[in-house]
Amino acid sequence: MSVIRTAVTGIGGYLPEQVLTNADFTRMVDTSDEWIVERTGIKQRHKAAEGQVTSDLAVEAAKVALAASGRDISDIDLIIVATTTPDMTFPSTASIVQAKMGAKGAAFDVQAVCSGFVYALSVADGFVARGLSKAALVIGAEVMSRIIDYTDRGTCILFGDGAGAVVLEPVEGQGTSADRGILSFDLQCDGTKTDLLYVDGGVFENNNHIGKIRMVGNQIFRHAVQKIAQATEAAIEKAGITHDDVDWFVPHQANQRILDGVADKLGLDRAKVVSTVANHANTSAASIPLAWYEATKDGRIKTGDLVLIEALGGGLTWAAAAIRV
Ligand code: ACO
Repeated sequence: MSVIRTAVTGIGGYLPEQVLTNADFTRMVDTSDEWIVERTGIKQRHKAAEGQVTSDLAVEAAKVALAASGRDISDIDLIIVATTTPDMTFPSTASIVQAKMGAKGAAFDVQAVCSGFVYALSVADGFVARGLSKAALVIGAEVMSRIIDYTDRGTCILFGDGAGAVVLEPVEGQGTSADRGILSFDLQCDGTKTDLLYVDGGVFENNNHIGKIRMVGNQIFRHAVQKIAQATEAAIEKAGITHDDVDWFVPHQANQRILDGVADKLGLDRAKVVSTVANHANTSAASIPLAWYEATKDGRIKTGDLVLIEALGGGLTWAAAAIRV
C-alpha cells in the first residue's frame, strides 16, 4: 500500500561561541568539576551572547539544515519552533524566524519543554503526510541561560544554549518499516507533576518576571529513566521494528546517567547511543536535533539508518519516535 511518509532531508545545528566550563561554576556556587562530571557527565556548555535571542540561534541552525537539504527558503511553507525560551510572550518565535529568513506560509511554536522537538516533529508530520506542507522546517532552539538561577547549584550546572533544525519533505513509502521517513511516535504528558520541574514566573504567576528553573532533580531522574524507556518501547512496537533494527539512539541530552540507564533498561548497545551531553549539556528542545546533527556531520548516521529519538521534560512531558533517515 502506497503511503506518504515524512522524510528528514536536511539537518543542522548551531552553538553560540561562549563556553562555560565546570570550573567557571566553581566560582559561582559550591560545586566541583568532579561532582558535575560524576553525577551528570557534563564538562561544558555554550552560552548565548548578550542580545542574542532564541530566534537568532534558530535561524543559524535552520540555514545549515536548508543547505544540507538542497532547498531554498522560498520552498519552505511551514516553520515550527520548539522552545521554552521564546523571544517574547507573543508573537511566536517561529513568526520572528519566518521574518528573519524571508519565508512564507504557516509558522507557530510548540511548547513541551525538553520533549518539544519530538512533539513539534509529530505536528509537522501531520502537515506533511496530509499534503498540507511540501517542505517544513522544525527547529528546537533555546537560550536556557536566561531562565537559569546562577545561585542554585542543583540546576545551574545542567543547562546550555543552542539550536538544531531539520527540513522535512514528503516521500512515497510502502507502509512498512523499510520506508524512509518517520515511522512512529509515542507522546505522553502527566500534568499532575508540574511541581517537579517548572519556571517560577510568567504571565499569570508573576507579572514582568520571566522566572527561573525550579526542579526536584532526583525525582525527575527517577521518572526520566522509567518513562523514557516506556515511550521508547512503544515507539519501537508501533514502528513494527525490533531493538536490533535500531542503528542509532539519539536521546535528549539531559544527563549521561539517564542516557546510560535508558539504554541499559532497553538492552541497547551503549555504542549506539549518541551523546553530546559532555560538551553541550542540556539544551532542552534543541538537544536532540543538535546531537543528531553532530552524529550526521561526523559520518555516524547515514542514509537508510534507523534512528530512535526520545525525551522527558517539564509538564511532565515525554515522547519518543522512530525515523528512517
Ligand atoms: N555540586 C555539588 N553538590 C550538589 C550539586 C552541585 N552542582 N547539586 C546538588 N548537590 C548536592 C545536593 O545539595 C545534595 O546535598 P545534600 O545531600 O547535602 O542535601 C546532594 O548533592 C545530592 O543531591 P541529589 O539531588 O540527590 O543528587 P543527584 O544524584 O540526584 O544528582 C542531579 C542531582 C544531577 C540534578 C540529578 O538528580 C539529575 O540529573 N536529575 C535529572 C534532572 C534533569 O536532567 N533535569 C533537566 C530537565 S528534565 C530532563 O531533561 C530529563
